[in-house]
Amino acid sequence: MFDLQSYLNGQKELVEKYLDESLPMGEPAKIYEAMRYSLLAGGKRLRPILCLATCELLDGDRTSAIPSACALEMIHTMSLIHDDLPAMDNDDYRRGKLTNHKVYGEDIAILAGDALLTYAFEYVARETKNVPAQRVVKVLTILTQAVGAQGLVGGQVMDLECEGKIDVSAETLSFIHVHKTGALLEACVTSGATLAGAKEKDLHRLSTYAKNIGLAFQIIDDILDVTATSEELGKTAGKDVTAQKATYPKLWGLEVSQAKAHELVESAMAQLDIYGDKALPLQAIAQFIVKRKN
Ligand code: FPP
Ligand code: MG
Repeated sequence: MFDLQSYLNGQKELVEKYLDESLPMGEPAKIYEAMRYSLLAGGKRLRPILCLATCELLDGDRTSAIPSACALEMIHTMSLIHDDLPAMDNDDYRRGKLTNHKVYGEDIAILAGDALLTYAFEYVARETKNVPAQRVVKVLTILTQAVGAQGLVGGQVMDLECEGKIDVSAETLSFIHVHKTGALLEACVTSGATLAGAKEKDLHRLSTYAKNIGLAFQIIDDILDVTATSEELGKTAGKDVTAQKATYPKLWGLEVSQAKAHELVESAMAQLDIYGDKALPLQAIAQFIVKRKN
């Protein structure tokens, strides 16, 4: 039987090694330290694992997806460094450690985020081997689109604009989450698929899978903010209520939110039926998203 926990633990260990190697120290030491502090702070490493698992599902060469997998975690990490800044969510803890700006100061934290973001693209362009150059260009397009105003940045802007508003609609909330969280999760899957040379039909199926788990992921995030402790989360719990954030539990209540997340994961899994046992890792990741405790 497929053991989800040992699969995820094994993949996480590999990803930690790839990430450590991806960003050696350099000069000025201070910026490299700040970048490595957040990049190597642990975390679930779901994004790189998703990218590698999707590439393997389509019989791609796993090693060709390692630079993209690392780049996705670099982008995710930079978005968290910036999200935690006083000008945004003003958080002191992330992944059980002090946030980047609490250790290095706001100036360096902003620059560490900028440097991680630009390095992510350099790393993909420079290190992706053994696939046609066209696929690498396509991956870079996928990544840049997920990050910009039509992706993470757009979602974050809407999130900030809705803070403190009491009448945020379900559509606006979905816009925030599709962009802020969903876009990068979808990019994990589509970049892994692209590197494996995916056909349009596979890309469409896998994008639908990713959209569904992306939304489920964020619903669970909102639920955990209410139900889990700061120790369990490694970051301050209950922030959404104090910051008057628009969330699913606020809109629907905890029970309906939970049921909706399960429904989304079921729909995601249905997209994978056609791949049989080869899809076990992606199915396991989908289930992990609703079962997770942090
Ligand atoms: C965490 O959400 C934040 C994000 C998922 C993304 C934030 C995006 C930005 C700061 C834009 C970054 C800039 C670029 C160029 C990509 P949350 O606050 O709901 O979750 P949390 O409780 O973990 O902080
Ligand atoms: Mg935040």
